[in-house]
Amino acid sequence: MGSKINRKEFLKKGTLAGLGASMIPSNIALGKKAPAFIQGKDDRKARIAVIGVGSQGGNIVQGLTFQDDVIIPAVCDINPERVAHVQKMVVDAGGAEPTGYSNGPKDYINLLERDDIDGVAIATPWELHTEMTLAALKHGKYCAPEVRGAFSLQECWDIVRTSEETGMPVMLLENHNYYRSELAVLNMVRQGIFGELIHGQCGYQHDIRYVKFRPGAEFGEKGERAARWRTNHSLHRNGDLYPTHGLGPIATIFDINHGNRFVSLTSTATKSRGLQAYVREHGGKDHPNADIQWGLGDIVTTVLKTARGETIVINHDVNLPRPYSNMGRVQGTKGLWMEDNNSIYLDGMTPKQWHSFDPYREQYEHPLWKNFLEAGVRGGHGGADYLKTRAFAQAVKRQVPTPIDVYDSVMMLAVTPLSEQSIARGSAPVDFPDFTDGKWVNKKPSFGLDGDF
Ligand SMILES: NC(=O)c1ccc[n+]([C@@H]2O[C@H](COP(=O)([O-])OP(=O)(O)OC[C@H]3O[C@@H](n4cnc5c(N)ncnc54)[C@H](O)[C@@H]3O)[C@@H](O)[C@H]2O)c1
Repeated sequence: MGSKINRKEFLKKGTLAGLGASMIPSNIALGKKAPAFIQGKDDRKARIAVIGVGSQGGNIVQGLTFQDDVIIPAVCDINPERVAHVQKMVVDAGGAEPTGYSNGPKDYINLLERDDIDGVAIATPWELHTEMTLAALKHGKYCAPEVRGAFSLQECWDIVRTSEETGMPVMLLENHNYYRSELAVLNMVRQGIFGELIHGQCGYQHDIRYVKFRPGAEFGEKGERAARWRTNHSLHRNGDLYPTHGLGPIATIFDINHGNRFVSLTSTATKSRGLQAYVREHGGKDHPNADIQWGLGDIVTTVLKTARGETIVINHDVNLPRPYSNMGRVQGTKGLWMEDNNSIYLDGMTPKQWHSFDPYREQYEHPLWKNFLEAGVRGGHGGADYLKTRAFAQAVKRQVPTPIDVYDSVMMLAVTPLSEQSIARGSAPVDFPDFTDGKWVNKKPSFGLDGDF
């Protein structure tokens, strides 16, 4: 593991270093219960626990260990081996061993009852996120659930209302918001380089058949770290099951919930062939699962309309062979950025063809990434897991709103049930709820405002 980042150094370097809490937009009432650690002390620490320390929970713990103003008092997983693994990770990084909770599926409640924890990250299977988020908020903790799609609009409303009632923030841990190119594009959009925005595209285009069928999943041998929970969704559901990786950065770029909002969507699914073909190819046509009819269409295309008159297309493409892509595209009256060929075209460029985005990314590098590159990039997902856990930890430490707030979080989660509804109704348009109750009109952007990490 690399050496810890000296935070004071970066505060000096950030363009808006020293941004006070009073300058950060206050989206929801905060901190009815002021944590003891912030009371008048400069050497305060963020005390963050992690529930679910499997594959991605391990990345979160690692991201937190890089931060010398973060303490990890406790970790929880029903699998004691995973608990032991991340306890060792913390100790190896020079921290005190977190208390482990692995006494069954409700042991996380015992963790939440501790009063030396101010924030929790959640990286369990999707169906547990809402129950755990609501419990964390009711126990007075900042809450950072990992990414997924919701199961119903009701649970989105429950999360919003509970956050509002308790005054505790929720930050969906969307690492793609912190990707380097996407942040450079955000910077360019804010400087008007693409003109007035017209259209965006994004998606989750990731061949995860190997995840769905790795040992312990629906098809294959029993293994230690099963992904059965994820595979089951492909069996019984049809919609965009994982919208947030693509949508996170694009929604920020289009000011969704911050002067703009989604008003409606339509969703269309293709037939389902990829998973059945995979089972037959790897298990043979006589395999007991060879004739399973999977519910999830191989490609799900969702079109969202915004209040400002833009369209955003989201693509969900996870069951067919293909290279990875988030399909990013941001297009305005003066030109466009495309992720797939790392390219850009701006009005007046000659020749009239794609140009490399590299020099533009350098010219418009977001201050966050300028500082990160100088410090040494570290952590999972190209450093984004560090940046997102850092952003959450800083909000916890300073007791200010999180840069991705509860409304931003449920806006991303809600695409899944809305997309399922639209598909079930023959791709009919479905209204997008306004979770902010009208606050979106005057809410100022809160994400990516500075280089402070
Ligand atoms: N941001 C990213 O890039 C990224 C990448 C992968 C996964 N994820 C997200 O992270 C979350 C977890 O996914 P994963 O791939 O790490 O899954 P995983 O199966 O590897 O880990 C889930 C862990 O939760 C534990 N668990 C299950 N029930 C529990 C309970 N009641 N209490 C405590 N622990 C419990 C399991 O034992 C397991 O270790 C999902 O929301 C997934 O979408 C995000």
